[in-house]
Amino acid sequence: MDRLIAEGKIIFRDSHTEFISVKRPLEDTAGNVALSVFDRQRTHSGRHLEGILGDKRFPFPKDHEVLMRWIGVAAPSDAVVLDFFGGSGTTTEAVMRLNAQDGGTRQSILVTNNEVAAKDAKDLRKAGYKPGDTEWEARGVCRYVTQPRVSTVVTGIRPDGSTYSDGLAANVEFFDLTYLDPDRVSRAREFEAIAPLLWIQAGAAGKCIAKEPPEGWALSDGYAVLTDIDASEPFVEGLSALEEPPPLVFVVTDSPSEFEDVTGRLPQRTRPHRLYESYMRSFEINVEAAQ
Ligand SMILES: C[S@@+](CC[C@H](N)C(=O)[O-])C[C@H]1O[C@@H](n2cnc3c(N)ncnc32)[C@H](O)[C@@H]1O
Repeated sequence: MDRLIAEGKIIFRDSHTEFISVKRPLEDTAGNVALSVFDRQRTHSGRHLEGILGDKRFPFPKDHEVLMRWIGVAAPSDAVVLDFFGGSGTTTEAVMRLNAQDGGTRQSILVTNNEVAAKDAKDLRKAGYKPGDTEWEARGVCRYVTQPRVSTVVTGIRPDGSTYSDGLAANVEFFDLTYLDPDRVSRAREFEAIAPLLWIQAGAAGKCIAKEPPEGWALSDGYAVLTDIDASEPFVEGLSALEEPPPLVFVVTDSPSEFEDVTGRLPQRTRPHRLYESYMRSFEINVEAAQ
């Protein structure tokens, strides 16, 4: 160790609570440079997932260590890693473990449906259940595998209460992606359903403004929302009173002049973002264009 320190090969961090690392030149490392082809036994990841959940629930998940290596090579340490066919949640586990390993601040957005495996579906049908029933949905990949896997890796406690590990220092939020009643959306009655999308757009940091603010405006750590343009005065005052105003500001208005009026009064360093009054419709999918 003395020799390594003398050779400048040990990297000390700012505080004794952080791990030191060893500087290794690339020519001394076999695994740090991405190769175009590599071998890895696929049974390893199956056993790993079984260890987390306590039983076998998902056939052939991807290998989290392979993903860790790949994400570490391909993306910066503050990357947002999106997996929209997330299955058992390997990508999120890889991102969390990589952050724990190298102190990165990567974020992971994982989307999965709640598909029931063919064999389970057969058994459930035999038992008289159909899609939508609680018993059926409880066996879907999201409820049965992804959620418990991610929770167990973070908390260190398995769904059955047994201990898996010491857990990881990571924050996780679960949201249901669902269909909304278009009438309620057009009457602006679905703010709560849209709220997580605004929070994610603002970087998914700090508190989510989860309910439509009765005062017509609300502030959080990462963003602010003005839902009622008539409340712009207290809104701007509230923002200006903060030492560090949130960087992103959503202003709901159809009028360009109202928007400009508010943005002209916002504290410097805030980024105004306009939401039209029909903003809840901007997340619509599978809708035919109006005639
Ligand atoms: C090949 S698996 C992904 C496996 C994943 N890499 C892992 O390690 O577990 C694809 C997954 O995408 C999910 N899926 C299928 N259709 C989807 C959709 N429309 N939206 C989101 N997820 C979907 C399926 O449930 C399936 O588990």
